[in-house]
Amino acid sequence: RAADPPPPIAYNGTKLVNDAEHPYQAPQEGDMRGPCPGLNTLANHGYIPRNGVATPEQLINAVQEGFNMEYFTALTVVYAGILVDGNVVTNLLSIGGKSALTGEDPPAPATAAGLNTHGPFEGDASITRGDAYFGDNHSFNETLFQELVDCSNQYGAGKYNYTVAGEVRYRRVQDSIATNPEFSFVPPRYLAGFAEVVFPVNFFVDGRQGDGQLDLDVARGFFQDGRMPDDFHRASKPMSVEGIDQVVVAHEILPGRNVNGVNTYTPDPNAPSLLDSSDGCKFYEDFVNNTVGDEQPHLAVAWSKRGVAIEHPQEYVLDDNELQRVSALAR
Ligand code: HEM
Ligand code: MG
Repeated sequence: RAADPPPPIAYNGTKLVNDAEHPYQAPQEGDMRGPCPGLNTLANHGYIPRNGVATPEQLINAVQEGFNMEYFTALTVVYAGILVDGNVVTNLLSIGGKSALTGEDPPAPATAAGLNTHGPFEGDASITRGDAYFGDNHSFNETLFQELVDCSNQYGAGKYNYTVAGEVRYRRVQDSIATNPEFSFVPPRYLAGFAEVVFPVNFFVDGRQGDGQLDLDVARGFFQDGRMPDDFHRASKPMSVEGIDQVVVAHEILPGRNVNGVNTYTPDPNAPSLLDSSDGCKFYEDFVNNTVGDEQPHLAVAWSKRGVAIEHPQEYVLDDNELQRVSALAR
């Protein structure tokens, strides 16, 4: 059952994280793995249960402990994930597909079907995973990884860095505009799409190296196998979306979708945009009111106000009914 979030980790410098207590083990038959190389890695090294089904509390601890993700970033991403793709009654999320281990489903329209679910969190124009339209939105895709390699060679002298991230972000969007008639790139996917291209720089570079230049063999290990290199040390300080501004200004990408087949990308003027610096809270409101609201209108909105709203507590006053639900969930 939902509990208060765990506190920030006490020591937040670099340290060996591919250690004797967290050896890599390939997933076994039935273990859930999905579109996020960060979480796949944490599962393969036992920072979260190796079956790939975890509570938000376990995830919040693991992303800090294993990768030194900054505390409020961890809360936001984890609660967002469980709200849209997890089971908010049993408090469990599959990091991949639908799993019986998350327990009895909450009332429709909640799906509790895991992070592979296309739409609420997982979305198009990913770095190394294909668009759902083409049939597989969660497995490592070698062709797409080669695009990352090409961009790294062209713009990063053979390393993946923020400059390369800006080019990869743009190329993947251009690919999807030209090939996916159902391409959609609106929040929250729009936001995640920018965050996920800087995450490899911020979290997959060894904390003792810390120069923002990701080796491509190391990148492959994380993206393909969910595996830390030998002797891997996590980031040297708590990290979030550092570098995202550089990616945003590299190419103009507005939130939007292909409205009538391929090559009909049309910006959505109502969607919050990273190009408008006043849109910060609009992302949050859009997420609570639209994304979460569609998925779990009763339980989740109340729960999100308790969980995700930690960053903007002043904006949300729970009504009596919501308070009751929140207390019920907390029991
Ligand atoms: C995608 C890294 C935490 C959910 C990604 C991608 C990266 C990444 C690099 C892009 C994969 C690609 O497009 O090929 C990380 C790291 C994390 C972390 C380093 C921790 C430090 C989380 C958490 C959640 C999450 C806590 C949710 C509970 C997702 C999802 C995607 C994704 C759903 C798929 C989005 C898409 O490309 O369509 N992550 N992530 N991640 N991540 Fe994470
Ligand atoms: Mg995707």
